[in-house]
Amino acid sequence: MTSQKNNTSPETTELREKIAALDAELAEAFKSQFSVSPFLSRKIVSFQGNKDKPAYSWYKYKEAFSAGLVEYFLGSYSGGMSGKVLDPFAGIGTTLFAASSHGIPADGIELLPIGQEIIRSRLLSERELTVDDIATLEHWINSSPWKESSEKVTFSTIRITENAYPPETVEAIERYRGALQRENDKIQAILRLALLCVLEGISYTRKDGQYLRWDARSGKQRPGTKAFNKGEILAFDAAIIAKLKEILSDIRDAETPVTLFPVKRTMKDIRLFKGSCLEVLPTLETASYGAVVTSPPYCNRYDYTRTYALELAMLGLTQAEVSGLRQEMLSCTVENREKDLLKICPQWEPFTEVANQQKLLQTICTYLEHEKASGTLNNSNIPRMVRGYFSEMACVIGECARVLKPNARLCMVNDNVRYAGVSISVDTILSDIATVPRFCRLKNSGCSRQKRK
Ligand SMILES: C[S@@+](CC[C@H](N)C(=O)[O-])C[C@H]1O[C@@H](n2cnc3c(N)ncnc32)[C@H](O)[C@@H]1O
Repeated sequence: MTSQKNNTSPETTELREKIAALDAELAEAFKSQFSVSPFLSRKIVSFQGNKDKPAYSWYKYKEAFSAGLVEYFLGSYSGGMSGKVLDPFAGIGTTLFAASSHGIPADGIELLPIGQEIIRSRLLSERELTVDDIATLEHWINSSPWKESSEKVTFSTIRITENAYPPETVEAIERYRGALQRENDKIQAILRLALLCVLEGISYTRKDGQYLRWDARSGKQRPGTKAFNKGEILAFDAAIIAKLKEILSDIRDAETPVTLFPVKRTMKDIRLFKGSCLEVLPTLETASYGAVVTSPPYCNRYDYTRTYALELAMLGLTQAEVSGLRQEMLSCTVENREKDLLKICPQWEPFTEVANQQKLLQTICTYLEHEKASGTLNNSNIPRMVRGYFSEMACVIGECARVLKPNARLCMVNDNVRYAGVSISVDTILSDIATVPRFCRLKNSGCSRQKRK
């Protein structure tokens, strides 16, 4: 039976009302702890805040937050922060570089090779370059050696990156990759970094959250869809030279002058763990961090393995490897299958139970299942994704509680989402999960696996 007014069933209406009431109750419970900071603008919590910031702006990682936000969090400790900072979803390393440049050592965990590669090459650029290396980079800018190169190094594609560039651009990329092989490892890393930074601009694609959007000039327009024009498609030579100039100028402007020998700058150590934080967190020492500053993927169906497919393919990943990474990611797409969290760490049961008993979350899951059964969900895997997201986040939060020192803070940027006409208050649900006393009791006895070598 459906209501006359808006064509929704009584069960749907009842569940929506229940969700609204539980949501209001939870908001009320946190009311005294909410505070609004005018400093935390959209610009500061997003990549926009890094747009003009040397080195942070090299690679446009739309999902990044700004260095200013990290400085704000770390600066908000009244007595000063003690110990290392951790970011379990490190992305391109904003937390790591911002903390390190303020004299705070930082550890990060990142799953996707694109973030790992940006962090690695930025570290090299900041700490290892000699005067000779700088001269070599100048030569690349002034003489474009790839244009004369007879050597070409081809690159592989995966299904969704086929025909992503105009033919002359493919030719130029292959020559560039051929020519850079003659350089030392550091220069190669910087040149590869510059290439990754320009891929979107020289391609027919635009990153659009859930997928790669294709310009009609690619010939890949799906029949019946509106032709999309991304604007100027940059020529390879101009794009790469501009990027190399930007990188070199930022390196030159950095505080410590480049010398004849590699110099360790005053920056504190940065350590990157490659892989899933669900696997790495349990290997970290209990009570060893002064703060966690992080932003997990949002529960919004954005598929990083699709939007960053050009870069992943350029880094040599195969179709199977990309699909594997998609499954390892925190569940935030409808394709994520359920992870066996207790197999990863049997001691996580109390954490997953906290998520299973969070009333608002469970009512939302019941509602989504109901909508799935009624055929009104636009994708039937949304309930699985939402459930998986919160269970996995409960384990991440539990592990963060374990590795943080007493009274240290977990600062998280996240966003609320909306499915089937219902808002999901990710902020208050995760906050509620984090405040369950069980997390505190387990703080010193969480899942401590053997330390990584
Ligand atoms: C919102 S972005 C973080 C951006 C970061 N704050 C920055 O400024 O660059 C979320 C990151 O989490 C990573 N990620 C997703 N699942 C992960 C997992 N299971 N373990 C580690 N990293 C993961 C994604 O690849 C992505 O880089």
